[in-house]
Amino acid sequence: MNVSLVILAAGQGTRMGSDLPKVLHRLAGVPLILHAMRAGRILEPARVVVVTGHGGAQVAQVVADEDETALIVTQEEQLGTAHAVAQARAALEGQAGDVVVLYGDTPFISPATLEAMLAARATHDLVVLGFEADDPGRYGRLVVQGETLERIVEFKDATEEERAIRLCNSGVLCADRALLFDLIAKVGSDNASGEYYLTDIAALARARGLSAGVVRCDEAETLGINTRTELARAEAAFQTRARAEALDNGVTLIAPDTVFFAQDTVIGRDAVVEPYVVFGPGVTVESGATIRAFSHLEGAHVSRGAIVGPYARLRPGAELAEDVRIGNFVEVKAAQIDEGAKVNHLAYVGDAHVGARANLGAGTVTCNYDGVFKHHTEIGEGAFIGSSTMLVAPVRVGAGAVTGSGSVITQDVDDDALALGRARQETKPGLGKRLMDRLRVAKAARVKG
Ligand code: UD1
Ligand code: MG
Repeated sequence: MNVSLVILAAGQGTRMGSDLPKVLHRLAGVPLILHAMRAGRILEPARVVVVTGHGGAQVAQVVADEDETALIVTQEEQLGTAHAVAQARAALEGQAGDVVVLYGDTPFISPATLEAMLAARATHDLVVLGFEADDPGRYGRLVVQGETLERIVEFKDATEEERAIRLCNSGVLCADRALLFDLIAKVGSDNASGEYYLTDIAALARARGLSAGVVRCDEAETLGINTRTELARAEAAFQTRARAEALDNGVTLIAPDTVFFAQDTVIGRDAVVEPYVVFGPGVTVESGATIRAFSHLEGAHVSRGAIVGPYARLRPGAELAEDVRIGNFVEVKAAQIDEGAKVNHLAYVGDAHVGARANLGAGTVTCNYDGVFKHHTEIGEGAFIGSSTMLVAPVRVGAGAVTGSGSVITQDVDDDALALGRARQETKPGLGKRLMDRLRVAKAARVKG
């Protein structure tokens, strides 16, 4: 079935108290708008249209980075949800099939719920996603008769009787494209808010003798973000679910409440995650790997049997092969570390390739940045990099080669060679003691005077 998505993201989000557009605030490491886009992926949408307004250019950039085929339309003035969807009309002209409307500030709609809505289209012309609210508050109310949705009434416009209804409107809906825009064109703004309500299309559809139905989901799925407090609550809800899922999938979490996941974190069975670990976006940890305490990972891939941390930092492009060891206070960025290689203490490895079973000593630094450009460091298989070696990139250390501790390596090192790039040591017999004696005398004189 052919489906297009329209994601509403024009609202200012005044209550966030922020210069950043609301839908760009991050939840589980990912901007809110991307949660809606990713949920919609299950429908394999032919087109994705994002309706922006406030901070439109910034939102457009984030959307394009996620999906370069997504279309951005602008709603100059926010005149209501129907007016917002109407902005997508031209972008979807001639598109066959259905349109699903999502909100950019509602991150937890599940793929299964969206599939259920499409399935319900077999029996209804218009399908609206509803939920039974414990406290229906200011949500729009769904007025149903049997299985038929008769109309949706906004809180502001509702009678006392209607306000008593607990079945609420999530805002997500689905209809044939041509029908949807046809109905929207008939929506007026004669209501308590003076806005063009998308919700009016339910009654308009019924008046034409069309059928409207409700798919129900859990209230937790429809949670919308309007304030920082709601964002923090949503984050907590996400983390609680992610921790439970990881445990169910056979991941050991020693202190689950101290581990933070991103929306797309993937962790294999029998991996162990110690306390106080943060996963940023784009991390995959394979089965049997161990992430030790106080580590921070982002855009990284950790293979089977690898051990990371404690206190390690993996940044985007860190690719660790099997049985790699990344130890305390080591940072890895845009670097491929081959099987069994070790970087155990106080090191920086960036824009580099480290061969299998190479050993990088404490304090090794790939000096990858000259202030303008980034350069690559190549370390061969089984190489031994002495402690505190500065590898001034671009530079290559061959397989089986050794660098002396404290070396500054500026030239390529052949396979199996020993490279020393440091001042030769001078030792003066007795001079150490004489120097200290002289200093102590000077100090005594200063204390007296
Ligand atoms: C809307 C629904 C209400 C439902 C509730 C669920 C209408 C009239 N009401 O109310 O029935 O219970 O959501 O959360 O649809 N937006 C635009 N342009 C606009 C107006 C809104 O892009 O001109 C976007 C907002 O950024 C937001 C979404 O549409 O993402 C919903 O708008 P909002 O103002 O929050 O609607 P509610 O009053 O909450
Ligand atoms: Mg709202």
